[in-house]
Amino acid sequence: MIITIDGPAAAGKGTLATYLSKKYHLSYFDTGMVYRAVGIEMLDKKEDINNEQAAEQIAKNLTFLKMLELSTHPEFRGPQGGKNASIVSSYPSVRQALLKMQRDFAQNPVLTDGSRASGVVYDGRDTGTVVCPNADIKLYITASPEVRAERRYKEFQAKGIKISYEDVLSDVKARDDRDSKRSASPLKPAPDAIIIDTSYLNIQEVIEKVCKIIDSQVKKS
Ligand code: DC
Repeated sequence: MIITIDGPAAAGKGTLATYLSKKYHLSYFDTGMVYRAVGIEMLDKKEDINNEQAAEQIAKNLTFLKMLELSTHPEFRGPQGGKNASIVSSYPSVRQALLKMQRDFAQNPVLTDGSRASGVVYDGRDTGTVVCPNADIKLYITASPEVRAERRYKEFQAKGIKISYEDVLSDVKARDDRDSKRSASPLKPAPDAIIIDTSYLNIQEVIEKVCKIIDSQVKKS
């Protein structure tokens, strides 16, 4: 079974994907990590973030292991990491270079203990439209920019990252703008995606709603 979860930043995709991967014994691929890894390597190599060719070269050489290694960088999940990821993800050549790695993940999915998984849950922006257009279940999770900024702000606070709510909100809006206006694979729901607005739902309610959808699909097949 392949489930894709797309949507804007801080909509709750990661929490949902983690839960679903455990419940249905699926391997989890947070595809934002590939762009964050390229953005962090650009930072480490002191490359100009506007240099598409440098980003493309880094993307071409990125391996899954290298991505995991870069994910321990202190800025990987921080504001700078998010901004760099958003910029490099707007480059068509970078997206192209990272596509195979994302698709290949579904070929032999394994769980963290090394045992075989019964499929994959992908989380990202274009996983239902570009990475896995044949996915069994496609979800598009969204919420208002204010609600998402509030959630991200609390996450940063919990991690001790110092940033104001206003700065998080303007960052969320800037990323929405960049993600939805880029020429290659812009953020948009797949035509067959189920759209869920989580602005007025807590995570438990989202999980219940989604599990009902998945269970009814599984019964039908
Ligand atoms: O989900 P995230 O915040 O870790 O994603 C970081 C950036 O990567 C985000 O600004 C958009 C980009 N991204 C993308 O373009 N396509 C994906 N499938 C996943 C993320």
